[in-house]
Amino acid sequence: MSLREMAWLDIPVLAALDAELFRDDAWSEPTWWGELAGRPGRDYVVAADGDRISGYAGLHHGGDVADVMTIAVAPGEHRRGVGDELLTELVARAGRGGAGALMLEVRADNGPALRLYARHGFEQVSVRRRYYQPGDVDAIVMRRRIGGGR
Ligand SMILES: CC(C)(COP(=O)(O)OP(=O)(O)OC[C@H]1O[C@@H](n2cnc3c(N)ncnc32)[C@H](O)[C@@H]1OP(=O)(O)O)[C@@H](O)C(=O)NCCC(=O)NCCS
Repeated sequence: MSLREMAWLDIPVLAALDAELFRDDAWSEPTWWGELAGRPGRDYVVAADGDRISGYAGLHHGGDVADVMTIAVAPGEHRRGVGDELLTELVARAGRGGAGALMLEVRADNGPALRLYARHGFEQVSVRRRYYQPGDVDAIVMRRRIGGGR
């Protein structure tokens, strides 16, 4: 498994994986096109094993604070450290982009993601009540410092 830049040709696979992993919140192909068109402000990486995509993740570089736009690992590839590698890469890219902090939002019922973020030093800063609809699920807003950031 190795990390590479996301490519336009990845979009159909990404949209299919997103539909499986995020259901109501999945990004469609047009959304992915828009995200990749937003580079270099948007910054996306793919974890691939040859032709097979095992995971993907991306950032928005927003000056002092960068935001995690998405992070996902293919259903058959969970619990092998792919998520760890992707998040380590996002933190490195955010730092190279000049951010002093990295922020994200996660569903309060997403245990695997919450544990991944806690392992990487993210701390809860606020809760957006009933942010995810349908389902009335809260969003946990998390943040970690990068380098000497505040
Ligand atoms: C959240 C997500 C990205 C984590 O990806 P992942 O590749 O499974 O993450 P990792 O393998 O790095 O870590 C997950 C767990 O596997 C464990 N693990 C890592 N490598 C392992 C290995 N070789 N053997 C056994 N366990 C391992 C980790 O310790 C961790 O355990 P924990 O959850 O009990 O703390 C993945 O679950 C996912 O894609 N979920 C759906 C999409 C999603 O919710 N994205 C986040 C939106 S905010």
